[in-house]
Amino acid sequence: MQSRLVYMDHGATTPVRKEVFDYMAPYFQEQYSNPSSLHAPGREVRQAVEEAREKTASALGANEDEIYFTAGGTESNNIALRGVAKKRTKPGHIITSSVEHHAVLDVCKNLENEGHRVKYLPVNQYGRVDPESLKEAIEDDTFMISIMAANNEIGTLQPVRELGAVAREKGILFHTDAVQVVGQLPFNVADLNADFLSLSAHKFNGPKGIGALYMRKGIKIDPLYRGGSQERKLRPGTENVPGIIGLGKAIELAVSEIPEKKKKLEHLRDRLIKGLRDIGEVYLNGHPKERLPGNVNVSFQYIEGESVLLSLDMEGIAASSGSACSSGSLEPSHVLSAMGLDHSMAHGSVRFSLGYGNSEEDIDYVLEKASPIVERLRSMSPTYHAR
Ligand SMILES: Cc1ncc(COP(=O)(O)O)c(C=O)c1O
Repeated sequence: MQSRLVYMDHGATTPVRKEVFDYMAPYFQEQYSNPSSLHAPGREVRQAVEEAREKTASALGANEDEIYFTAGGTESNNIALRGVAKKRTKPGHIITSSVEHHAVLDVCKNLENEGHRVKYLPVNQYGRVDPESLKEAIEDDTFMISIMAANNEIGTLQPVRELGAVAREKGILFHTDAVQVVGQLPFNVADLNADFLSLSAHKFNGPKGIGALYMRKGIKIDPLYRGGSQERKLRPGTENVPGIIGLGKAIELAVSEIPEKKKKLEHLRDRLIKGLRDIGEVYLNGHPKERLPGNVNVSFQYIEGESVLLSLDMEGIAASSGSACSSGSLEPSHVLSAMGLDHSMAHGSVRFSLGYGNSEEDIDYVLEKASPIVERLRSMSPTYHAR
């Protein structure tokens, strides 16, 4: 039985930090009142929820009344995209990119079934959208542009500021799925020209099943659900109080630590990239510089990423192939395909996503194990022998 665990799948989810867990704990058994109750304990819980909103707003450079708590990134994306579309009296045009998470892509596909038209912008070999191509794609009835801040698979950062500026200049609503960026890199919603921004606590050492949507003041959309006045009717239902409290604490901690964490992760990331490349015929996917501090996505030529993953798993190394949601499927990742990778290179990809808690020793351990694994798998690969 393997005793060591090196967790390098922070892009899928992260552990809840002890400080966050301790901060949430009283809201399960002691401060359990409904924040809508008018009695004293209810008012105290309301106050804690509002403090979490303030922390979230301050982390994004937003106002408290622009923050809506949701059940996570997927729900935030749905509320923004579907909410804007539902408010319209007739179908129109939406622009997104071909490398979005399914939490945006599938919503867009669904909106197409309802009569809207969607343009899926292409990306270059690094997975980046060109702001010029966005300008060219705008039509008379384009009502929404949704481009992610950073890609979950390959870690490439999109030029969101420029993309947001194009949208703002044309008076089109701009949404960014910033699930992978919040708590990793500094930014604020004004710089991004964002009208909507989605985030999810479990990606920055907060709890799962809780997230937030930033919606710029003055914008009106149709809620997806009815049934209560919570979250100013945009997301009715009794609040996930411990989750909200955990999100507030996690975002406060994560944002305050960005400079040191970014420096540390970039150093570990670059060491891992170099060490993996030194194995030979291992290629980095995504942008060499404009990428998330903790993301390493490589293709091992001649072998399957899934086989590498399983062998790493047997050594106690947790990584992923493609995004957690699509792994298990035999289709190559839509992101790598959109970047022009051929089938075999796309199938040979593995994502290591580093986070809080990873160390130099973890990198040493992965590099020590990866080289013989790749050698063994290649020795059994017909394409390796036929090269
Ligand atoms: C870019 C991106 N958007 C959305 C999501 C979905 O977030 P959640 O798991 O909170 O629904 C994820 C999670 O993997 C993601 O990486």
